[in-house]
Amino acid sequence: MSGQQQTRGNNLDPWFPSYAERTSGLSASEVRALFAVASRPEVVSLAGGMPNVSALPENLIRSAFDRVMTTNGPTALQYGSGQGVPALRENILRVMGEEGISASVDDVVTTTGSQQAIDLVAKLFLDPGDVVLAEAPSYVGAIGVFRSYQARTVHVGTDDEGLVPEALRAAIAAERAAGSAIKFLYTVPTFHNPAGVTLSAARRPEILDICQSAGILIVEDNPYGLLYFGAPPPPPLRTLDAAGVVYLGSFSKTLAPGFRVGWAVAPHAIREKLVLAAESAILSPSSFAQLIVSEYLDTADWRSQIGTFRNSYRERRDAMIGALAEHLPELSWTVPDGGFYVWVGLPPGLDSKQMLPRAVTELVAYTPGTAFFADGTGRNFMRLSFCHPTPESIRVGIRRLATVVGGELDLLDTFSGTGPLASRRPRRRVDSPPPDLD
Ligand SMILES: Cc1ncc(COP(=O)(O)O)c(C=O)c1O
Repeated sequence: MSGQQQTRGNNLDPWFPSYAERTSGLSASEVRALFAVASRPEVVSLAGGMPNVSALPENLIRSAFDRVMTTNGPTALQYGSGQGVPALRENILRVMGEEGISASVDDVVTTTGSQQAIDLVAKLFLDPGDVVLAEAPSYVGAIGVFRSYQARTVHVGTDDEGLVPEALRAAIAAERAAGSAIKFLYTVPTFHNPAGVTLSAARRPEILDICQSAGILIVEDNPYGLLYFGAPPPPPLRTLDAAGVVYLGSFSKTLAPGFRVGWAVAPHAIREKLVLAAESAILSPSSFAQLIVSEYLDTADWRSQIGTFRNSYRERRDAMIGALAEHLPELSWTVPDGGFYVWVGLPPGLDSKQMLPRAVTELVAYTPGTAFFADGTGRNFMRLSFCHPTPESIRVGIRRLATVVGGELDLLDTFSGTGPLASRRPRRRVDSPPPDLD
């Protein structure tokens, strides 16, 4: 090693001084850090957002695969267009039609999951110090992308009807007064991750109006819109404004995330730049995955498969809400009409991040609220996912969580005598966890 190299870096990573400044924003998300622990079979994981792919009959995929390889093998195994396979983009129009979106096949760019679409949009628009407006809380994977481009995520208040218009106006005014460059509003208006809420029909035009008059682009991320449990949600923002919205979709939740196929629909000029950015990142998205997804959409009854997913998630949502009401009445939570997530508020004094090791000891995992705020707030919240475990496991998980929360509240009472429920809560015995389930 040269003398110069010896003085560089540290014992763990000699290349530390060489990294670009933006890598300081790269850190393992709290969700990811949890995966290792939460994936142990004895732990009921209410932490990750893994879709219930066991509800997808494998033969549907196997036969699509066989047909692609028989009829289209050389194309499937070859590089493709940077914008994506045209046949799939046609099919994407049919899928989006289910939610009332009309677009031209030319407007669609297929991507490696919608996560890549978020990254491409960020790459096009964000310089260091720029501001992205986003719900409070917001999707952890988007916050990470914005941070990696050295942008600042400014959270905007939400309630049971989603983004609060007055809070959006106030955030825009405050950031502009401070001289910030607001590049776009990133929003998950339907079955929000992690908040579980949906932007009401009444607020949708208002949010669009505010952004239009402020000249702010909207990035609408909508991977869950077709996974509703009752009436369909209000139509996407993109149905109301084609010029001011970049729309992101995904097959990860309505088919399977293993394909890594998502898409963006963007106004013409943005779409051209998205394709250039995609080509420079990956040359072209996987022809193989796109053709199988397209074949599946051509030949399988995908609408009824989405119905099967809806039923499975509805049953899981009900199991979670029922168990919360039974075992944790001292908490508050949202009741989602679709999607994967329940957002839970803790009584004052409890800290979801601090409580997590204890929860894992009790064999239940969740995601602390801090993961969903760029500024590290959110300790008094947690996200519970009901998408993956069986309803029975969910009930076991919530019982274990009740043991953990009860233990923490008892501790609060013991040390302060002023625990939030000291006067009305019966002392809770911390039971050993119930027997494990598969
Ligand atoms: C709101 C939101 N956007 C984007 C993604 C990324 O999905 P994909 O698998 O399409 O990359 C997720 C995944 O959980 C998500 O919840």
